[in-house]
Amino acid sequence: MPCVELHPLTTQHLAAVVRLDQLCFGGLWTQEGYQREVTSPNSDLLMLQRSLSSTSDDDPSDPTLIGVACCWAILDEAHITLLGIHPRYQRQGLGQAALLTLLSLARQRGLQWATLEVRDSNQAARSLYAQYDFQDVGRRRRYYADTGEDALILWCKNLQTDEFGDRLQQRWQQVHQRLQKHDWQLTSSLGAIAPFLPKPSRS
Ligand SMILES: CC(C)(COP(=O)(O)OP(=O)(O)OC[C@H]1O[C@@H](n2cnc3c(N)ncnc32)[C@H](O)[C@@H]1OP(=O)(O)O)[C@@H](O)C(=O)NCCC(=O)NCCS
Repeated sequence: MPCVELHPLTTQHLAAVVRLDQLCFGGLWTQEGYQREVTSPNSDLLMLQRSLSSTSDDDPSDPTLIGVACCWAILDEAHITLLGIHPRYQRQGLGQAALLTLLSLARQRGLQWATLEVRDSNQAARSLYAQYDFQDVGRRRRYYADTGEDALILWCKNLQTDEFGDRLQQRWQQVHQRLQKHDWQLTSSLGAIAPFLPKPSRS
């Protein structure tokens, strides 16, 4: 089964993440922008990396860095600033895995709320966030300079409650099932999501 690894992004991956940024967001952050996030103690910048298969049938034009996600801790709030999955790998559960990881890290940091801005027209992202209890609390008029579109402001509350912890657990189980259906096995070095990863099989 192919592995997808979820790790903090390092400087070694800056060029690849800028290419992915171009595909997912049309060029939101520069290499310097990503570099700043790598070194900021208040930022969780994550990447999803597909491991190359040991066989020779791997397509060399297929990127290995296939997802990026970022969150800033500001006071007791988690500001989700990026979530993007390579178009070739969307709708397989990877976006949800990245979002769950950001929320798990926010909980580990002791943050109470999560918030983000999303384009009014971005139905895919809005549908994803709605599934994760993000509520629409307002809008910033003509926020996006390229289209003049409004941004919706979404919030998800009570990150520190037991109820939220239980929901995280359930959602992680659902996401692993979805990933498995698409033949992915998720691995990670992050302690915050270790309890949610499937136990390695004894064989
Ligand atoms: C939004 C995004 C991160 C979702 O990633 P993903 O890996 O495809 O999402 P997952 O497979 O984990 O989750 C699927 C859920 O997301 C939503 N979704 C994803 N793509 C969708 C689409 N094309 N249409 C409608 N809903 C969609 C649905 O709620 C879906 O659940 P369902 O399949 O049970 O209906 C991805 O579409 C993306 O990178 N988009 C471009 C960048 C972007 O807009 N980021 C968000 C900025 S705020």
